Amino acid sequence: MTGLFPPPMGLIVELTHRCPLQCPYCSNPLELERPASELDTSAWMRVFDQAAELGVLQLHFTGGEPTARRDLPDLVRHASARGLYTNIITSGVLLDEPLMAALMAAGIDHIQLSLQDIEPENADRIGGYRGAHAKKLAAAQRIRDAGLPLTLNFVVHRQNIQNVARMIDIAEKLGAERSEIAHVQYYGWGLKNRAALLPSRAELDATTATVEAARARLKGRMVIDYVVPDYYASRPKSCMGGWAQRFINISPSGKAMPCHAAETLPGFTFPSVRDTPLAAIWQSDPAFLRFRGTDWMPEPCASCERREIDWGGCRCQAFALTGDAGRTDPACALAPDHAVMAEAVAERGIAPPPFIYRRINAGSERAPVEAVV
Ligand code: SF4
Ligand code: FES
Repeated sequence: MTGLFPPPMGLIVELTHRCPLQCPYCSNPLELERPASELDTSAWMRVFDQAAELGVLQLHFTGGEPTARRDLPDLVRHASARGLYTNIITSGVLLDEPLMAALMAAGIDHIQLSLQDIEPENADRIGGYRGAHAKKLAAAQRIRDAGLPLTLNFVVHRQNIQNVARMIDIAEKLGAERSEIAHVQYYGWGLKNRAALLPSRAELDATTATVEAARARLKGRMVIDYVVPDYYASRPKSCMGGWAQRFINISPSGKAMPCHAAETLPGFTFPSVRDTPLAAIWQSDPAFLRFRGTDWMPEPCASCERREIDWGGCRCQAFALTGDAGRTDPACALAPDHAVMAEAVAERGIAPPPFIYRRINAGSERAPVEAVV
């Protein structure tokens, strides 16, 4: 590759792996980073300065639970002052009035709020936090009252998929501009809980029909993004818009990676923003260059007309399901390993097994947490 590669569109800022919830499909790694290893405020601000210089447009604050960091308003203010668009992806359970006011004063542009279900009891069970659903609804109202656009994220799976129509209804009632109905993606904790989460083909088809009907009904009023599970697909998704093509993901301790799940891949040493400038990471780090573009591709991708559309699918899924990150994503019907998807569907069983909950022993800095499991 010659010349400079175009800058990433977005920086995914995992401020902390701490979270009061314990969702069994969390995309965080199975080994969570400890609070003591987190980058401090000034280190994050330095990274945002570098991001702005590099040409990054958007910062997505996530976690864990980003509002568990007391310095979140300071970080938002700093990023806004550098001209970066700021988005927070949150469970909302810590988003009280003072924090909402502080974020508004800091210049936050957008908040995405996640809900586990529409039935409070089941929502609290899935998140492993009693009372979470009520707090989330209050947070949604707070976001609307502040005049910010609201996006509601619903992660759907076999234990809430029957409620998708009601999820869309509540998004409409709360005045959301956008809602995301996203089937669980099977990395990290999601892969560990796959049998408890993977819906049947019939359930998926019914959900797709519900979403299509709602899209037609709500056209011009609410956008509905829909993410389907790879396990019933015939072509893979363009994961992260291609490896190291559009995003840099930074872990709480400062590890820079092309995606949130990349540290599951063996044989990689990911650089740290503590000692390497973001521009150098983006342009020349070997881990970023490893699967960028199409040169690395084996057949059938190498000669496929979709190779610059889906970029061969997801490297982390290829590794998780085949043991080799350099193979074609098994979600593709053309992949030599495509049969593993059907095998996983066959293993899901008639009744879901109990959830294995994500846990971190340290609670939030901001509020006590109460687990119900
Ligand atoms: Fe995508 Fe590769 Fe499948 Fe073609 S063969 S559709 S590039 S994953
Ligand atoms: Fe890592 Fe898809 S999650 S490349």
